[in-house]
Amino acid sequence: MNKANEPTLARTIKVRASATESAPRPKRGAVTIVEPYRIKVVERIRRTTPAQREAALRKAGFNPFNLPSDKVFIDLLTDSGTSAMSDVQWGALMVGDESYAGARSFFRFEKAVRTIFGFPHVIPTHQGRAAERILFEALLAKGRSVPSNIHFDTTQANIEVRGAKALNLVKDVAYDPDDPSPFKGDMDIARLEKALDRGGENVPLVMLTVTNNSGGGQPVSLANMRRVSAVCHAHRVPFFFDACRFAENAYFIKKREPGYARRSILSIAREMFALADGATMSAKKDALVNIGGFLTFRDDALAGRVKNILVIGEGFPTYGGLAGRDLEAIARGLEEVVEDDYLEHRTGQVAYLARLLEEAGVPVFKPVGGHAVYLLADRFLPHIPRHQYPGWALTIALYREAGIRSVEIGGVMFGKMDPKTGRETYPKLEMVRLAVPRRVYTASHLDYVAEAIISVYGKRDRVKGMRIVEQPKHLRHFSATLEELV
Ligand code: F0G
Repeated sequence: MNKANEPTLARTIKVRASATESAPRPKRGAVTIVEPYRIKVVERIRRTTPAQREAALRKAGFNPFNLPSDKVFIDLLTDSGTSAMSDVQWGALMVGDESYAGARSFFRFEKAVRTIFGFPHVIPTHQGRAAERILFEALLAKGRSVPSNIHFDTTQANIEVRGAKALNLVKDVAYDPDDPSPFKGDMDIARLEKALDRGGENVPLVMLTVTNNSGGGQPVSLANMRRVSAVCHAHRVPFFFDACRFAENAYFIKKREPGYARRSILSIAREMFALADGATMSAKKDALVNIGGFLTFRDDALAGRVKNILVIGEGFPTYGGLAGRDLEAIARGLEEVVEDDYLEHRTGQVAYLARLLEEAGVPVFKPVGGHAVYLLADRFLPHIPRHQYPGWALTIALYREAGIRSVEIGGVMFGKMDPKTGRETYPKLEMVRLAVPRRVYTASHLDYVAEAIISVYGKRDRVKGMRIVEQPKHLRHFSATLEELV
């Protein structure tokens, strides 16, 4: 950070006050986005020197996934599994029932999931991608297609390893980072109908990702969910939610969709899931825990198949890869995540960070999503062409500047080699995601992040493009090594 950009108390307070003006405000007349909790336990984090960060980057092969976390000061890599649990959740760990079969904790977990999702079958898994893998193994044959608004990377990979196709049928507006539409996660219904008309039998299920993580964390409207449900059911195709961030999506429905302002988050979530046949869930997001997931659905025949697959690779159906204490923590987390004051603060924090950046002219995806601020890396670094991965280069620059870890959602994560031309093709958006962990960082942490990014923006022409040195076949961003171009 250069001298001119060093934070001063006066500047911080000024920026914070103006930033809250258009960010969602708490009710009852307050002007600050105030944490609806107080701190009972702290975890020390350490700042590093520029030389330490330089060494860490080289050792990591310029891949933020390879950085040891003690070399990271503010970790915005993901909001997944990084939540701070509440005192109630920590307390619940002690009453976990670790019986192999029929554990008390399973029934508590099952009840909490049914209260929100309403489906009879509730299958615990160790995390979201296990739920996806098991569902696809049960339903998906080679050559089939699975439409969604936009599949997340692990979902897409789980479909592709089965020789099937992941179709992204979000409305075009999702790819316009300046369009202020409130529900940019909505599925393009005409394209969905076309995919199903062309061969409904080749589509064993339709998914809808809420919120749409790979498209800027944008919500899907209830009106759109209703239409997706109607089209699927007219074609007799099951409709599943990828429900990782269902509570954040429900909160945006409450705030933005006419007719929902006075409804509880729980009742909105129930209305969403009543339209579907099932859901996959990563409890590491909107169940406020560090590990866990589940699969929940209506179909009895599917339950038989799924439980067979589960027992072979994951665990017995009443624990499915989790400890009894994990099931207890998920049950409590699901109760806490649908509370209004939690969601108001949660989405308010993300909006606050976006506002600080926008005020300084930093290009961000609009409107701001539920769990993260997405930087538009191609606009931030216009001198770096797509084949030199500007998003990835920006993640390196942010780490180098201030020890902030972020993730590229762009050419490295979603780039594909075209077998015909031998050339790489790139996703429409080249972004860097600053995912805000739930209940972990304070407003001053976010101020620090904004100041560092603004400082990098001020000297952006010095950031260099990247080249991939080594990469695996699937999900290359997790383990590829790169180098900077000179
Ligand atoms: N679906 C979506 C929309 C996700 O965002 C994720 C994970 C998964 C499925 C898989 O769940 O990690 O429990 O296996 N997203 C994380 C992220 C990793 O950083 O966005 P998982």
